[in-house]
Amino acid sequence: MGLFDNILHSEESLFKNPIALDFDFQPKLVPYREDMQHFMANCIKPLFYRRNGTNLFIFGPSGVGKTVSTKHVLNELEENTEEIIPVYINCWKRDSPYKIAVEICEQIGYTNIFNKKADELFREAASLLNKKSVVFVFDEVDKLESHQPIYTILEDIYRKCIFLITNDAEFYKKLDDRLKSRLALKFLEFKPYNFEQTKGILKQRIDYAFVNGVFSEEAFEIIAKKTFELKDIRIGLFLLKEAGNIAEFKSSRRILKEHAIEAISKLGGFSIRRDVQLKKEDEDLLNMIKENSGKTSREIYNIFKEKYGKSYRTFQRKVKYLEEAGLIKTNLFNNYSILEFVEKSKD
Ligand SMILES: Nc1ncnc2c1ncn2[C@@H]1O[C@H](COP(=O)(O)OP(=O)(O)OP(=O)(O)O)[C@@H](O)[C@H]1O
Ligand SMILES: [Mg+2]
Repeated sequence: MGLFDNILHSEESLFKNPIALDFDFQPKLVPYREDMQHFMANCIKPLFYRRNGTNLFIFGPSGVGKTVSTKHVLNELEENTEEIIPVYINCWKRDSPYKIAVEICEQIGYTNIFNKKADELFREAASLLNKKSVVFVFDEVDKLESHQPIYTILEDIYRKCIFLITNDAEFYKKLDDRLKSRLALKFLEFKPYNFEQTKGILKQRIDYAFVNGVFSEEAFEIIAKKTFELKDIRIGLFLLKEAGNIAEFKSSRRILKEHAIEAISKLGGFSIRRDVQLKKEDEDLLNMIKENSGKTSREIYNIFKEKYGKSYRTFQRKVKYLEEAGLIKTNLFNNYSILEFVEKSKD
C-alpha cells in the first residue's frame, strides 16, 4: 500500500469551515447571554440621546462568553447607528498608553500617527470622537500597564460609556479610589454555563464547522461533558477541533468516541486558558524560561532585562500571564521563586 493511499481527498474533509472553531470566531448568535446583552445595551442607550452612558464592570471566569457577548453588542450597535462609535481594545495585546492611542487612531481611521506621542494621538483622536458618542471596551483590563488611558477618556471625551472586562474578580478592588469614584461602575457578572447550555453552544459550532452528520453523538457527549466539567467553552472548541483532526489523520469518515477520548488525553494537565498567541517578547521570555528551567526568577529576569531592558514589574506581569496560561510554573524554594517550563503532554 502506498504511503498516501488511504488519505481522505481534500473534498472529503470532515471540516466544512474550521475557522468556526477558532477562539475569536464571532458566531451570528450568542445564545444564553441575552440578559447580559440587554443589560449592556441599556447602559449604552443614553448615548442615543446624546447623554453619557453607564460604565460597566464585566467579570467572570475564563471562557464563559464575556468577550463574545460584548462584541456581539458592539456589532449590533454598529449596524444600528453611525452616531455611536464602538472602540474595542484588548489590553493584553495593547497594554501601554501609546499602544492604546495607536489602536484607537487605527480604529477610527486617523492615519497620521507617525512621530507622535501618546498624548498627541489621544488629542487627535478625541477631536474626532467628540463629534459623536463612543463606547469604549477595555477587555482583559487587568493586563493594562497603566490606567492613564481611562483617565484621559474620562476627561477628554464628552459623551461615552466605558466597559471594563476581566476574569479577575478581585481587580475592582485594585482600582484606585479616585478612578472608582469617577467611573461609578455598575457590575455585570458572567457565571459558567450549565450542561444544557454548554451542549447548545458546542452543537452550534459543530453545525458551523463540520460536514453534516460526521460528528457522532457519542463523541459529542464526551466532549460536552468534559467541557462542562472544566467550565470553559474554549476547551470544548479545542476538543472539537482536535477530535476532528485525529479522525482525519486516521482517515476515518466520522468522528467517533475513540477520537474524542484521544483528544481529551491531549489536554493532559495543560489548561488552555486562551488561544495563546504570544507576543514576540513573551514568546522569547517563554523560551528563556524553557532554556533555564529551574533557575530563579531573578536570574531569568537578568537575561530578559539584557535583551528588553524592561522593569522587574513588567517581567513579573508577563510571568504571571504565562503561568495562568499553564505554560510555566513558579515554585517557592528557600524564599527564591523558581521558574519552571511546563512540557505540554503528548503533543
Ligand atoms: N453563548 C455563546 N455562544 C457561542 N459561543 C460562545 C458562547 N459563549 C462562549 N462562546 C465561545 O467560547 C469561547 C470563549 O468565550 P469568550 O472569549 O467570550 O470568553 P471570556 O469569558 O471572554 O473568557 P476570558 O476571560 O478568558 O477572556 C469563544 O470562542 C466564544 O466564541
Ligand atoms: Mg475574553
